[in-house]
Amino acid sequence: MGVEIQVTDLTKSFGKQLIWGDVTLTIPAGEICVMLGPSGTGKSVFLKTLIGLLKPDRGSVIIEGVDIATCPEKQLYEIRKLFGVLFQDGAMFGSMTLYDNVAFPLREHTKKHESEIRDIVMEKMELVGLLGAEDKLPGEISGGMRKRAGLARALVLDPEIVLCDEPDSGLDPVRTSFLNQLIVDLNAQIDATFLIVTHDINTARSVPDNIGLLYHKHLAMFGPREMLLSSEEPVVRQFLNAQKVGPIGMSEEKDADELEAEKDQDLPPLPPIPLQLEPSNGIPRRSQRAPGEWCRTHGVEPPPGSFEPNMTMATGA
Ligand SMILES: Nc1ncnc2c1ncn2[C@@H]1O[C@H](COP(=O)(O)OP(=O)(O)OP(=O)(O)O)[C@@H](O)[C@H]1O
Ligand SMILES: [Mg+2]
Repeated sequence: MGVEIQVTDLTKSFGKQLIWGDVTLTIPAGEICVMLGPSGTGKSVFLKTLIGLLKPDRGSVIIEGVDIATCPEKQLYEIRKLFGVLFQDGAMFGSMTLYDNVAFPLREHTKKHESEIRDIVMEKMELVGLLGAEDKLPGEISGGMRKRAGLARALVLDPEIVLCDEPDSGLDPVRTSFLNQLIVDLNAQIDATFLIVTHDINTARSVPDNIGLLYHKHLAMFGPREMLLSSEEPVVRQFLNAQKVGPIGMSEEKDADELEAEKDQDLPPLPPIPLQLEPSNGIPRRSQRAPGEWCRTHGVEPPPGSFEPNMTMATGA
């Protein structure tokens, strides 16, 4: 059913450079979250801190009752087995075939026989649509295929938590749509908790249950997708609607003159909240929140169609 990650007052600096401070949020078990933020705001650093690859200055990351920010290495090693991670650069071994890359965590972390490893690798390769490409080297395939191979490798240990750092960067819009569908389908099938870092606003608007936005060294907002998509908070509004008007400038923050100049500009009305992407036909409905639930309880215009009778399936009813 996935595992919850509870982050409290997390603060990280490198030397004197504060990356972000006092980040507090709970990533709910089994749900899909997207983390957004301008380039350089520390999204990748955040993911690495969640798996204990980087140590925070202070604060805690509680997973299954263990604070991975302070626990001993041995305990951290055990907790890490809950994670499947797709790093931003793919982190594939260039001299190994896709098969060996995907098999690597199984050979490293389990005592499974090669025949069993083969079954798991082929199952995951099929899941990400890469059957037939097992013998290729990472350098011989497209960027999109490398991302999918990275995802296959992130899944081989049946993770409870899947972290993906820009799984869609460099992909064309059609492949991004397929990848988004794959993430929603995987979440419905394996019930793991997903945290995805992306710059793709369409992904952020339609895939997750929750969205977070890192900006200016802090977590500007974190909450249900519908809450952020209907937010009038200037930074959140600007980022989620890809607008030029707002506090974020080319070099992260606009100066006072720039902000003064756009003071009287009218903002376009917020676009409607899109319906959340559903799992493909034949895949069980997701057991998380009912679509539009947050809207219903907060008096916000719900996504079109989200209360039609056939949608109640998504609640498990
Ligand atoms: N190991 C490190 N040592 C020192 N500084 C680091 C280290 N890793 C990251 N940083 C710095 O932390 C800041 C945040 O980096 P990070 O890679 O997390 O940004 P990001 O939000 O993921 O950006 P992008 O969207 O471009 O991927 C940057 O200023 C970066 O230079
Ligand atoms: Mg990054």
